[in-house]
Amino acid sequence: MDFTASTTLIILVSIGVVALLLGGGGGYLIASKKRKSPAKEKHASQKADPLNTKLRKLYKLLADLTSTLSYERVLDKSLDGSSIALGITGKETEELISAVLFFADDGSVPPVLRVASGRRLTRPDMSKKIPGLKGIIGKTIESGAPQLTTVISQDPELTQFWAFRTCKAGYCIPLRVNLETFGVLLFAHPEELYFAAEQREILNVISRQAMIALQNARLFQEIKDEKDHIIKAEDEARTKLARDLHDGPTQAVAAIAMQANLAGKLLKKNPAAVENELRLIEDTARRTTKEIRHMLFTLRPLVLESEGLAAALNTMAEKMNETYNQNVIVETDENVIYDLEMNSQTVIFTIAEEAVNNVRKHAKAKHIWVRVQRARRDFAVLEIEDDGMGFDTKDVFDNYNQRGSLGMVNMKERATLARGIFHIESKPGKGTKIEVVIPLTDDAADRIRKFQ
Ligand SMILES: Nc1ncnc2c1ncn2[C@@H]1O[C@H](COP(=O)(O)OP(=O)(O)OP(=O)(O)O)[C@@H](O)[C@H]1O
Ligand SMILES: [Mg+2]
Repeated sequence: MDFTASTTLIILVSIGVVALLLGGGGGYLIASKKRKSPAKEKHASQKADPLNTKLRKLYKLLADLTSTLSYERVLDKSLDGSSIALGITGKETEELISAVLFFADDGSVPPVLRVASGRRLTRPDMSKKIPGLKGIIGKTIESGAPQLTTVISQDPELTQFWAFRTCKAGYCIPLRVNLETFGVLLFAHPEELYFAAEQREILNVISRQAMIALQNARLFQEIKDEKDHIIKAEDEARTKLARDLHDGPTQAVAAIAMQANLAGKLLKKNPAAVENELRLIEDTARRTTKEIRHMLFTLRPLVLESEGLAAALNTMAEKMNETYNQNVIVETDENVIYDLEMNSQTVIFTIAEEAVNNVRKHAKAKHIWVRVQRARRDFAVLEIEDDGMGFDTKDVFDNYNQRGSLGMVNMKERATLARGIFHIESKPGKGTKIEVVIPLTDDAADRIRKFQ
């Protein structure tokens, strides 16, 4: 391929107009030149044909790349696209070795790079992990700019890969979002001068497209995960409701039936005792009605929609007192509630409701404090504290799957859905404190994500 044609290719791919040109019959490269005689034109179009075919192939790959929503396929297509694009510049790609390296998401400190996808790497190379601190990989990550080497044998990290030891030239491109590098694209070839300026530019262009595609794939995955969370949370809420209905009102109504049966029998044997039995039935029925009303309130707290979080928490406290004689003290900062989206208010209410119910059921506490406050300008903090018996959190969480409980897991799921953090602290005899931090802005949500 001559200089003009490959330069044109770089420009075309860079500004993303390949589609337009090829969509118009691939005629731009020919039409832009001087008008030729029909015989010359035929010859020229024959000569241009292989280029057009390659361009079409590259265009298809790039279009495929940016429309792919699977992370793995984006990686594969980036490497295949790079090889095809280098082929178009006239470079032999048979011996090209390429790889995508990502920082492993396994909590290693300091973080390590692992191979996410590779072409012509050996099997042991595919499972290699490297620190990304030295050689061209280290320089690429530190500077945020592509780096070239023509002496791979002197590169301490590249020589850890068997396949690269047969190569002289290496080219490394950072994969960056904003100022954060989350991996690199790596290319190597036995020819010392393989990665000339023109080839490097082509690879830079492909890597930019790959970045966009990776971001799309990541966003798609996040939406999918969120959808799965919502489905799971809904399913668990239904399971919990069915269990609460079974353990609460169903048992109570069964008890009323038994008491009524007993009262019927007493009517003949001991009419004087019937009055007492009827009073017991009335008490159970009244208590059950309160419990069902309480359940209905927590299931659909209309006051939350009409008057907001502070009113809903206060109503919950009143009902707790009325139904269970449990003292709940609510302290809210109206200012922060004003800044909370309706969804986040619902999440806070649901978590507070479950936490308060846990205290009522398990803690034998005199007081429960529910607070909603602002922290560091753009975070809302929900605190539920009690002076009850406390519990061994490690013991409960270690055996959580065997317990059949859902409360804790639901609270955590809901905090995550609101892009927040859930934290619990408890010790036997010392009471329990739950803290939920919810971001009030996108920027605050980003800071939480980085912190995690
Ligand atoms: N405030 C608290 N004080 C004392 N123990 C608690 C408190 N909160 C939770 N626990 C303990 O943690 C366990 C797990 O709580 P979780 O809410 O997950 O389940 P549950 O309340 O038993 O059942 P569910 O919420 O599914 O109806 C409880 O069974 C209880 O032993
Ligand atoms: Mg519970």
